[in-house]
Amino acid sequence: MSNQSKRIVLVSTDTDFVQDTRTAFAASEKIELVVVAKNINELRGEIQDAECGAVIVDMDASKLDEIESLQRVIRRLEGKAPVVVVTKEFDAAAVRILVQLHVSDFLVKPLTTADLVRSCIRALQGPGKEENSEAQIYSFMPVAGGVGCTTIAIETAFQLHNSATRAASTCVVDLNFQHGACAEYLDLEPRFDITEIENRPERLDRQLLDVMLSKHESGLCVLAAPTRPTEMRTFNTDLVIRVLDLVSAYFDNVVIDMPRTWFPWTETILLGSNKLYLVTEMTVPCLRQTQRLIQAIYDTAQKQVKPMVIVNRFEQRMFENGIKLADVESVLGDHFVGGISNNYRLVRSAVDQGVPLHEIEPDANVITDLRKIILPEEAIVTKKKKPLFSLGSLRRKAG
Ligand SMILES: Nc1ncnc2c1ncn2[C@@H]1O[C@H](COP(=O)(O)OP(=O)(O)OP(=O)(O)O)[C@@H](O)[C@H]1O
Ligand SMILES: [Mg+2]
Repeated sequence: MSNQSKRIVLVSTDTDFVQDTRTAFAASEKIELVVVAKNINELRGEIQDAECGAVIVDMDASKLDEIESLQRVIRRLEGKAPVVVVTKEFDAAAVRILVQLHVSDFLVKPLTTADLVRSCIRALQGPGKEENSEAQIYSFMPVAGGVGCTTIAIETAFQLHNSATRAASTCVVDLNFQHGACAEYLDLEPRFDITEIENRPERLDRQLLDVMLSKHESGLCVLAAPTRPTEMRTFNTDLVIRVLDLVSAYFDNVVIDMPRTWFPWTETILLGSNKLYLVTEMTVPCLRQTQRLIQAIYDTAQKQVKPMVIVNRFEQRMFENGIKLADVESVLGDHFVGGISNNYRLVRSAVDQGVPLHEIEPDANVITDLRKIILPEEAIVTKKKKPLFSLGSLRRKAG
């Protein structure tokens, strides 16, 4: 361990706790304890300045403002130092948030100093600089209407949610404010009430977000607004930014179902995405439109994001004069990342039952094709891990 990684910062205003912790670490030659005698809400960069290997935050996890301060601290640390939270108040909601914030550990007062020391040492040795600690944003943009963008976005969210390497919290954000289908496809009630925050996006905080999320039984969350067929509305960029900021602070994977219309905030989404997938079909007009869209994206976002094209309802052997794989490859070059089989029977029955595709057939061609694109490192393992997905269907059958 380097000097820096031996230093632990303790943030606490509880003098007894500070004293106990000092005593506990005094015995250790390896660890240097730096005390910041402040409430977490009052921190102004002391933690970053200390260049430490781990942080202990003594706080009240039932207070929203302290949770928000913690979130800021964690974000500023950029995964460079693990955080151990010590809290007196403690409930299921707080635990969930702490888990989502990737704190290394959390301990409830009163605690033994042995527990604290053990937890800190584990934090110092642990994975620490996790690469995956930042939310990954996967955006799906349709090239034309009805190409299967929503279907693919939702199944991607489930694959990430159940994945061995990306597994953690996942949220689908349906940005088709007017004609969203994400909630409907999963038989959930859309609860995102945009009118309530439209003019004051800052009102949207963790608590309000929690109320506005629809929760699937698998744990997957969906942020979707009720559809209003008669309204043509636009939403300001501030609102969209606020939503994305908040969602990416609380979830590990964010999957965005984008509308086909190009809005003033589309650029924001493009720039904020880690992965941008364009969903298209194997027809000449669709492929031409894909080319135009790729160009538009480069014009807007320069080279900051590379659009990756998924060809849905992909057929290896199209009709005699139809488009072939070679045509797709020559038109799209290395933007083309894969095709998804045409399987109308499966997709239809999933939509009609309001369940994800894998619940009907975990090894369906559509799913294996998608996994090769989204989670290539895991794609081969899928078959062996079949039981992973059958839990829900078993429960359903039994129920
Ligand atoms: N791989 C596939 N094989 C067969 N049918 C599919 C496939 N993917 C999607 N579909 C079907 O295509 C239709 C459109 O799908 P979906 O709603 O996902 O598309 P979309 O691009 O989101 O549409 P919209 O423009 O309405 O938002 C649905 O009927 C769906 O069942
Ligand atoms: Mg759609």
